[in-house]
Amino acid sequence: MFHSAARIVGCLLLLFPLLLSASLPAREEAGPTPKAYNVVYVGTPYDVISIMLEMARTGKEDLVYDLGCGDGRMVILAAQKYGCRGIGYEIDPEMVRASEANVTANGVQELVKIVQADMFTLDLSEASVIMLYLLPELNRKLLPQLDRMKPGSRVICHNYGIPGIEADQTLTYLSNEDQTTHVMTLYTTPLRRTAAARQ
Ligand SMILES: C[S@@+](CC[C@H](N)C(=O)[O-])C[C@H]1O[C@@H](n2cnc3c(N)ncnc32)[C@H](O)[C@@H]1O
Repeated sequence: MFHSAARIVGCLLLLFPLLLSASLPAREEAGPTPKAYNVVYVGTPYDVISIMLEMARTGKEDLVYDLGCGDGRMVILAAQKYGCRGIGYEIDPEMVRASEANVTANGVQELVKIVQADMFTLDLSEASVIMLYLLPELNRKLLPQLDRMKPGSRVICHNYGIPGIEADQTLTYLSNEDQTTHVMTLYTTPLRRTAAARQ
């Protein structure tokens, strides 16, 4: 009696890791490869986002994209302030979940959508405002996609601009939230190459 009970317990102990791994969703566990994450998450302070939205002349009719939306704050604030639609694209499944929770917590589900995607695979032609807080080489890599935006669309960058592109406006601002100086750069489509970039 004791022997057979011990054998059952032994079998269960051996099977436990197998049962546990079978209960995890395989794709979610794997997620995108680390290679696809081009920059880590750092949130833009809200007072900086407000200025970026103003610089981009955001209005109710705009469709705002944030490429690498982190916790979704840029598109959420745009919807709250201007009543415009927004899509936050994010590659990291954990940040996608955080963004979706934020959208719900702020009651902007009618206006804001969060999509898990690699930004370099996107068609950006529908967006009228694109917000970026990425590194310069990533902004440059996005150029073929940004070039397909409609004329008069705006691209607004936090801290890092688009190398080789003429800016309409650059603004430096000391944030009340993190007591740090932030630089914001505005571009309007069609994007104009600088003289150096044209050579
Ligand atoms: C510096 S954070 C900016 C977050 C947000 N835009 C903000 O300003 O508060 C950059 C975000 O880009 C995401 N990211 C990195 N590579 C990406 C890719 N290839 N496609 C989509 N998102 C990406 C990161 O996971 C991170 O959340």
